[in-house]
Amino acid sequence: MTDRTIVVSDLRDAPHFFGTVANRIWRSWWEPRGFPLSHITGLLEESLADGAESLCLVAHAGDRFVGTASVIASDLEERPNLTPWVAAVWVDPPFRGLGIGGDIVLKAACAALDTGAGAVHLCALPGKRAFYERLGWRLDEKDVGADRLEVFSMHRT
Ligand SMILES: CC(C)(COP(=O)(O)OP(=O)(O)OC[C@H]1O[C@@H](n2cnc3c(N)ncnc32)[C@H](O)[C@@H]1OP(=O)(O)O)[C@@H](O)C(=O)NCCC(=O)NCCS
Repeated sequence: MTDRTIVVSDLRDAPHFFGTVANRIWRSWWEPRGFPLSHITGLLEESLADGAESLCLVAHAGDRFVGTASVIASDLEERPNLTPWVAAVWVDPPFRGLGIGGDIVLKAACAALDTGAGAVHLCALPGKRAFYERLGWRLDEKDVGADRLEVFSMHRT
């Protein structure tokens, strides 16, 4: 029987999801801005290197891709001094509303804080505020940049 339990893996331990993760991130955030797929595959490859600052998590049910979230050094050019960031949070539509998005966001935040950072950051469009605040993220700033992004943080306790 196929195992349908959803688990979250480091992409280094589940590299066969590389293409799917790259595709989802590209289609959601980079293709609309005219970037080629190779732009995101290059960034994602950096997270596979030993000792990399970045990390990509993938949620999957056996070989079925479910969702992804990343930890990256820098995500917002208006806030170059803040690091690290949780970014590229995505759950495939059939799996939404099951708590998976919240789970991978918190796992990514914990991984970032485990590296010794005092705080981890995240930026999102205003429509996502309720989702992140419910997970314990603190709203630090509003109306940042042309996209009027909101900036959140989570702190080591
Ligand atoms: C945002 C996203 C990752 C949430 O994933 P998910 O697996 O559905 O998240 P969870 O199941 O943990 O949480 C869903 C809950 O958050 C709420 N939620 C999701 N998106 C929300 C939003 N934009 N505003 C407010 N609440 C939201 C849902 O209503 C749901 O609440 P409920 O449990 O009371 O019904 C998913 O909708 C997604 O991939 N969206 C497209 C990509 C995206 O916007 N990523 C975030 C970029 S900052």
